[in-house]
Amino acid sequence: MKIQQQVSLKKYNSFGIDAKAAFFCEINTIETLAKALQLAAYPTKFILGGGSNMLLTKDIDALVLHINLKGKKISTETDDYVVIEVMAGENWHDLVLWTLENDFGGLENMSLIPGNTGTSPIQNIGAYGVELKDVFVSCEAMNISNQKIKTFSKTKCAFGYRESYFKNEGKGKYIITSVALKLTKKNHSLNTSYGSIDTELVKNNITNPTIKDVSNAVIAIRSSKLPDPKVLGNSGSFFKNPIISEEEFSVFSKNNPDAPFYQVSNKEFKIPAGWLIEQCGFKGKRFGDAGVHKNQALVLVNYGQASGAEILALAHKIIAAVTEKFNICILPEVNIIK
Ligand code: EPU
Repeated sequence: MKIQQQVSLKKYNSFGIDAKAAFFCEINTIETLAKALQLAAYPTKFILGGGSNMLLTKDIDALVLHINLKGKKISTETDDYVVIEVMAGENWHDLVLWTLENDFGGLENMSLIPGNTGTSPIQNIGAYGVELKDVFVSCEAMNISNQKIKTFSKTKCAFGYRESYFKNEGKGKYIITSVALKLTKKNHSLNTSYGSIDTELVKNNITNPTIKDVSNAVIAIRSSKLPDPKVLGNSGSFFKNPIISEEEFSVFSKNNPDAPFYQVSNKEFKIPAGWLIEQCGFKGKRFGDAGVHKNQALVLVNYGQASGAEILALAHKIIAAVTEKFNICILPEVNIIK
């Protein structure tokens, strides 16, 4: 096990924030993970996955364990479906491409989501009408305090909109080591009605789409709206779309008849935070090297040298403006490391 000192985390977080780890260790096997967690000389450990959903606001005075567990296999196969078991350090989009090469259906709408497979259950990643929970079977996770591996069923994971057990009661207690997903081998059920997938398919004269066609459509839509973290540091949606009650919605919609919304239940309505932020005049605005993306106001960006604290200050400014104008509280989706 090699422990390095004073390592820049710039290339390990998609915001490209140049915070430093006091100590850093690459984790390639389950055994190393267990051993590293037992190192008494480094009492504080910090778990780093794909780094695509966090904002580092300061240096990390701890032993950073970079989860780089690799490997994937088919664990169950029938004529109709496969269950694949994927190690936590596998890049999510590379996994999606691998499933498409094998004609396994289920992940196509979640193409191009940054990050690693091991962190996908933490916030129940989702896009274009599909969420991880729709294909999820179970995951394995190491208990940080006793290093035992435990299997979490879908029910135990308590998935919600960008929520799970691991963001709530289980926070800081487990490290996800692998994820099992159930994918179709035939009769794929395509989900093309959300957003502009259908429009994109029609534009390309595709009338009988395959899962690869759906993936290509999603890639085209995402690339047109969302910045590539390799080019412009960002963490995807910085905020969650707020969910408001029926009473709040009746006031809101009277004052804002043109606002987009989705009804999520009888009594709850989701309002796109991107729309609220744009209405407050932030879309495309830049404050030093921190900014709001020009094509999607839900995304905060780092033009190069922004610190995490500067991005956080911009987030607070946006939250205050949205509260002031709409009396709606928007919350970060990104994990803020303070
Ligand atoms: N909108 C604006 N201005 C903006 C952005 C959006 O008016 O600057 C409006 C759009 O016109 C549209 C509505 O808001 O009417 C919704 O926009 P969009 O379809 O782009 O999706 P979103 O609600 O902004 C969510 C997810 C994205 C996911 C897309 C597509 C959250 C927080 N974000 O965004 O997830 O890709 O739907 O499914 O739920 C991510 O989590 O990192 C992410 C990118």
